[in-house]
Amino acid sequence: MASQVEEHALYGGVVPEIASRRHLENICQVVDQALRKAAVTWDEIDLYAVSAGPGLAGALLVGLTAAKSYALATERPVIGVHHVAAHVSANFLSAVEVVFPAICLTVSGGHTSLLLVRDYADIEQIAATRDDAAGEAFDKTARLLGAGYPGGPAIEKLAATGKARHVFLPRGLDPSLGLDFSFSGLKSAVANYVGRARQKGETLSPEDLAASVQAEIVNILIGRLRMALAAHSVRTVLLAGGVAANTALREGCAKLALELGLAFHVPPLALCTDNAAMVASSGFFSYRAGYRDDLTLNIRTVWPLNVKNLTI
Ligand code: KG4
Ligand code: ZN
Repeated sequence: MASQVEEHALYGGVVPEIASRRHLENICQVVDQALRKAAVTWDEIDLYAVSAGPGLAGALLVGLTAAKSYALATERPVIGVHHVAAHVSANFLSAVEVVFPAICLTVSGGHTSLLLVRDYADIEQIAATRDDAAGEAFDKTARLLGAGYPGGPAIEKLAATGKARHVFLPRGLDPSLGLDFSFSGLKSAVANYVGRARQKGETLSPEDLAASVQAEIVNILIGRLRMALAAHSVRTVLLAGGVAANTALREGCAKLALELGLAFHVPPLALCTDNAAMVASSGFFSYRAGYRDDLTLNIRTVWPLNVKNLTI
């Protein structure tokens, strides 16, 4: 497979122009490699599922054009899937059976949302971040500490030997405003704290800072999840997205589900961060539920997720 992580690490985040250029250069080889590794022939592919949005236009276009071309050449259908719905669907690859309805906390570098999952292909967003995603708060903290990219795993590693001693107010939005999230205040508070400490020449423990930021992010996420579970009668809690790889978050959600007597599923680590299997899973369940696309399929960089528009 081809990885762009090293190149983006130079800039501390994904550079859109670099991402789409590298996608274009590598996509055919990556698909060939994937088929070889899975020992699957073109004839055995029944459906092409592709992430059609939301996201960066250039990168989405490369994937979409490739998927439509493969579909046309092999005379198979193509289906566009919603990136966040795909993260949720990573759970359907590993969980034996999911009892619906469920609430899924989906936390990645670009999204932080609470989703009401009525069925495999019946997903409605009930809350989202009003500004930055939780993953960005991890990434920004790692950048401030020079701890590496992507930031989440680096912060988690540092936090393992640190103590949560600091509170970085504001803690997101006031709960009276509803279920939505906000992480821009936390991000700025951490940046100000680090800036002030450096200005004063104070020594700063990266481990303690990482532990504090991680604890605060997890608290905010679990707090909102608890509110959502109080407002909606569901049988299962799901966790998804790149940040779902975080052990403290996984444990927090598992504990909450246990306390409330609900089932809990989270994908294995490898299926939490962006991957092709989750897109295939989402496409499969959408197709099975009767959703169809054709070769006029286009990208949707902004795409609110609700029941009526799971596909385009
Ligand atoms: O879902 P994803 O791979 O890509 C997007 O759709 O954004 O999520 C990437 C995000 C990054 O912000 C990364 O720092 C975060 O997931 N992440 C983690 C961990 N592993 C990845 N955050 C906290 N702890 C982790 N172990
Ligand atoms: Zn993602």
